[in-house]
Amino acid sequence: MPKEKLLSILFEAGNIAGLELKNRLVRSATAERMCDEEGRPEQAMIDLYADLARGGVGLIVTGHAFVHESGKAHSTMTAVHRDDLVPSLRTLSEVVHRESGGKRSGVVMQINHAGRKASEKVTCPEPCPECGRRGSRRVGRTPVAPSPVSQVKGGPRPHELTEAEIEELVGAFGRAAGRAKEAGFDGVQLHGAHGYLINQFCSPASNWRRDRWGGSSARRLRFLEEVAAAVRDEVGDDYPLLIKLGVQDFVRDGLTLDEGVEIVRHVADWGLDAVEISCGMGTTSARKDILRPEDEAYFLPQARRARELTELPLILVGGMRSLEVMESILEEGTADFISMSRPLIREPDLPNQWQEGRTEPAACISCNNCWPGPGEYGIACRSSNR
Ligand SMILES: Cc1cc2nc3c(=O)[nH]c(=O)nc-3n(C[C@H](O)[C@H](O)[C@H](O)COP(=O)(O)O)c2cc1C
Repeated sequence: MPKEKLLSILFEAGNIAGLELKNRLVRSATAERMCDEEGRPEQAMIDLYADLARGGVGLIVTGHAFVHESGKAHSTMTAVHRDDLVPSLRTLSEVVHRESGGKRSGVVMQINHAGRKASEKVTCPEPCPECGRRGSRRVGRTPVAPSPVSQVKGGPRPHELTEAEIEELVGAFGRAAGRAKEAGFDGVQLHGAHGYLINQFCSPASNWRRDRWGGSSARRLRFLEEVAAAVRDEVGDDYPLLIKLGVQDFVRDGLTLDEGVEIVRHVADWGLDAVEISCGMGTTSARKDILRPEDEAYFLPQARRARELTELPLILVGGMRSLEVMESILEEGTADFISMSRPLIREPDLPNQWQEGRTEPAACISCNNCWPGPGEYGIACRSSNR
């Protein structure tokens, strides 16, 4: 006998700046690591998007794509820094729109610059003339950052961006957003979390500047404000612009929650249409071992604070695994959308399964083995309990 369809708030339609979404479930940005050396999606990545689209999620946010050569975080990262990449990026938006059926899923491109988290090995423009290897220190680009503060104690010190270089990167975000629009994406999401460049500017732990880009909370936020303005200039007023925002850093001298949520108050004025709440400058954003409902929704306290400060649609990520937890967050009004990363690596059709009556939580055990290790290709569920 067919199972009864679940009448859940999760499957009510939603809307972000005119983008109609068939349900409240979002695939949070997940770096697929399935591109060629130039950053063009390979067939495995297109297939993965087809699976996600067929699986019923309302909105897909792509893994982060780099807007400037100096902002590449890893070798198989998606690229959006050149005009000639548009046709290959279009394959992703087309497959989502085609495979998601009558009530199609939305697809938004996450644009990013890794700043001091860029890898010298992969931003190296040329093979070393002496040893022939890409990524040799001799020719590799030193990662750039607001201040020459290394990410880890004793780690390499990034190059402190000059004002002209900052302006160049602001423009690069704008142009990248224009390419995403041209490539058929339904919107863009700025990556303003997890210790990447926008977060580095916002955070007092990584921004020690004393010019117009740092020195006070308002000046540390200028980079984000200018990036948002550059993107708006490029894409026009009626194109959805989202941000994944880190509202608390969890590092010494980093953004406190009090300061972090204040950013949320401003973003509507800067032209943003929705905020996905996250936290942490590193791996603390993807907590391990989410095995009980009490472990789930681990950024809910932060989202509740953010909710008090904005009427924009909020998306909440971080350990969403069971229907009851997700529904209660939507019902209390803290978030308007629920996003997931790791569960959809393991079960891309989880939204359809839930809609068709499955009541069990996501099977993901949050072991983080989905990150590809050395010699491994792309994201995949490599959990020991499969
Ligand atoms: C393999 C992997 C890749 C990720 N890549 C990105 C990314 O490109 N951009 C981003 O904002 N977050 C990225 N994240 C973080 C997730 O989007 C999400 O915030 C985090 O995993 C917590 O959600 P979850 O419990 O549903 O996995 C990644 C996480 C994983 C596990």
